[in-house]
Amino acid sequence: MIIAPSLLAANFGKFTDETRRAERAAADWLHLDIMDGHFVPNISFGPDVVKTLRPQSRLFFDVHLMCSRSEILLEPFAKAGADQIIIHAELGDQVPHLIWKIKSLGKKVGLAVNPPTAMALAEPHLDQIDLLLVMTVNPGFGGQPFITECLPKIQQAWTWRKERNLAYRIEVDGGINFNTAVECARAGADTFVSGSGLFTKPNMKAAVKKMRGLVEKERRRA
Ligand code: DX5
Ligand code: ZN
Repeated sequence: MIIAPSLLAANFGKFTDETRRAERAAADWLHLDIMDGHFVPNISFGPDVVKTLRPQSRLFFDVHLMCSRSEILLEPFAKAGADQIIIHAELGDQVPHLIWKIKSLGKKVGLAVNPPTAMALAEPHLDQIDLLLVMTVNPGFGGQPFITECLPKIQQAWTWRKERNLAYRIEVDGGINFNTAVECARAGADTFVSGSGLFTKPNMKAAVKKMRGLVEKERRRA
């Protein structure tokens, strides 16, 4: 099970310290939300921030692009130090090329599906990806409540993976706290992004440990 604190909930004036805090807390990955003010109604930060943080941390950088023109950002984020780049299934026709491009840059590929989007949009790409991100809020802002209606989509992702003998990770993102992480683990998720659920905790190490313990106990049997 992977626990990935989201930097979006960190102190924006102290990104370096906050990244180190996540590493010291024994998180597995750092989730970096990139918002363009067009695909989502908010703006976060760009490749220069990732480039600044890269030498400060050994954490796996899970870069989540919520950007209409993702194609122009792949190379900058790959060069800045992303380990994985997640693009959105809602980009439609662009998706096959984006997946190909991320692979050609030597990075892992994730594909995200927003709450209103049918899983069928991701289905044709399952054998090409390293991770399927089932969004559990409408992206754009941290601190939103978990959308329970997304749980069957996690089950669908898990069933497809088993039926097709694939190995992509199943990630959830949005409103993930101790309770909702357990619900997602029960449905088949194995990778948990949590912003306000972890970064706001004064003792992040204890919070990461608790979340990991809870989801490992709930792990759905393959
Ligand atoms: C939502 C982002 C999330 C966000 C989650 O647009 O993709 O990664 O940081 O924040 P929380 O965990 O606070 O819902
Ligand atoms: Zn995210």
